[in-house]
Amino acid sequence: MRLDCCAISKQFGPHQALRNVSVSVAAFQSLAIIGPSGGGKTTLLRIIAGLEIPDAGYLRIDEQPLDFSEASLLLHRRRIGTVFQAYNLFPHLTARENVMLPLVVVHGLSRVEANATVDALFERFQLSRHADRRPAELSGGQQQRVAIVRAIAIKPRFLIFDEPTSALDPEMTAEVLDFIAELRDEGRDLIIVTHNMGFARQVSDQCLFIAEGQVLEAGRSIDVFGRPRNPLLTNFLAKVLRY
Ligand SMILES: Nc1ncnc2c1ncn2[C@@H]1O[C@H](COP(=O)(O)OP(=O)(O)OP(=O)(O)O)[C@@H](O)[C@H]1O
Ligand SMILES: [Mg+2]
Repeated sequence: MRLDCCAISKQFGPHQALRNVSVSVAAFQSLAIIGPSGGGKTTLLRIIAGLEIPDAGYLRIDEQPLDFSEASLLLHRRRIGTVFQAYNLFPHLTARENVMLPLVVVHGLSRVEANATVDALFERFQLSRHADRRPAELSGGQQQRVAIVRAIAIKPRFLIFDEPTSALDPEMTAEVLDFIAELRDEGRDLIIVTHNMGFARQVSDQCLFIAEGQVLEAGRSIDVFGRPRNPLLTNFLAKVLRY
């Protein structure tokens, strides 16, 4: 896919979260966004997902400009699968009902169709035996896999992940990262914010380094990780790769 960010700025109160960000990633299947805490990664991701409106600038996704009118945003959001750090499953609903809900309420499937979709996806991703459990009865890794299946179920144009494993222990992290790598291998388009550099490097073909509200480096992941040019990126990698 192709992503063009054109002069995007976003301010929260006195704080400038994104400063006139212009970057084009011409052809990617999996884009990693890395950088220090508070740098603006989530803000950019939320703008791409149509969940946040920039103060200035615009986006093009696959050459299609996104104007930020309410009508286009609604359509845009329905075409994207998003997965965030906290799994955001409804606690009172079973895994099955959590995945069915957007299919029925937002996408207009009948309950029979939605049930069939869930059955097929749970079977594929080895979640069938958890279908009738509520989130509290599932491990963090299982909950996150249900959240990912919920994002896939709507047949999104692409998937967005914001630190999908930061609430998980190492074993569950591996389980969820394997799952995301599998989605990449299936040919799905992904945009992933992660603090896990090994994973970012391995799973992404293109990478953006964001710090202080700016994209300070962009390019092939092999180059961004292998031959960083910006001194802030060099420092960042040295720091996070030390342990
Ligand atoms: N809704 C908001 N209201 C006020 N300030 C915000 C809001 N969202 C983000 N910010 C501020 O904007 C800046 C960028 O935040 P953002 O969440 O995009 O960073 P990040 O790179 O995702 O950081 P992290 O790695 O810690 O998740 C931060 O200083 C943050 O405090
Ligand atoms: Mg963030």
